[in-house]
Amino acid sequence: MVEQKATNVHWHEGDVTREHRQQVLGQKGATIWFTGLSGSGKSTIAVALEKELISRGNITYRLDGDNVRLGINKNLGFSAEDRHENIRRIGEVSKLFCDTGIIALSSFISPYRVDRDMVRELHESAGMDFIEVFVDCSLEEAERRDPKGLYKKARAGEIKGFTGIDDPYEAPEKPEVHLHSDQMSIEDELAALLEELNKRGIVAAE
Ligand code: ADX
Repeated sequence: MVEQKATNVHWHEGDVTREHRQQVLGQKGATIWFTGLSGSGKSTIAVALEKELISRGNITYRLDGDNVRLGINKNLGFSAEDRHENIRRIGEVSKLFCDTGIIALSSFISPYRVDRDMVRELHESAGMDFIEVFVDCSLEEAERRDPKGLYKKARAGEIKGFTGIDDPYEAPEKPEVHLHSDQMSIEDELAALLEELNKRGIVAAE
């Protein structure tokens, strides 16, 4: 838990509720949280889902590890502490999108279970949908793909503390959706995600 530093601050309730916003948008917000190794395909599936949802008339916004680390989280590195703060901030940002009525597609390695559970709790305690998606790809395959050449650098000792090489990745125990991205096609992955969203009333069946 992060310490509340500011004192004498109180939540200010407005007159417009989440339900009002959802009525205006004609959809329910949700956070879809993609977790997995670097190179596992988190961003690829998030991009495909974003395209599909927009084409169905659903408003969505993609939050991506690399992008967010170039902006709001540019002061964070990859120590366990910084990864925790990265996930905490982005969990809060996802929750804001979700509260607006937008479907947040958040792809972060988020290697620690406790950090992902914190984001889940943040959403669920506020009555918001949090869908954890495990983008499960073997280290061998992620390393074979090595889209950014980072595994090669990590193996050569040029990057220290690289997830899967010399830093841990704790796989989800009970993700809402488990994608085997080293065996499934993008179409099959999309179908599994849409089924979950449909089951929760977040998107309508086609
Ligand atoms: S997280 O662990 O804090 O969730 P995040 O998803 O934001 O990580 O960022 C991961 C991306 O940062 C990777 O896809 C990779 O491009 C880059 N990166 C740079 N250094 C590292 C590192 N030491 N471990 C993992 N990813 C790294």
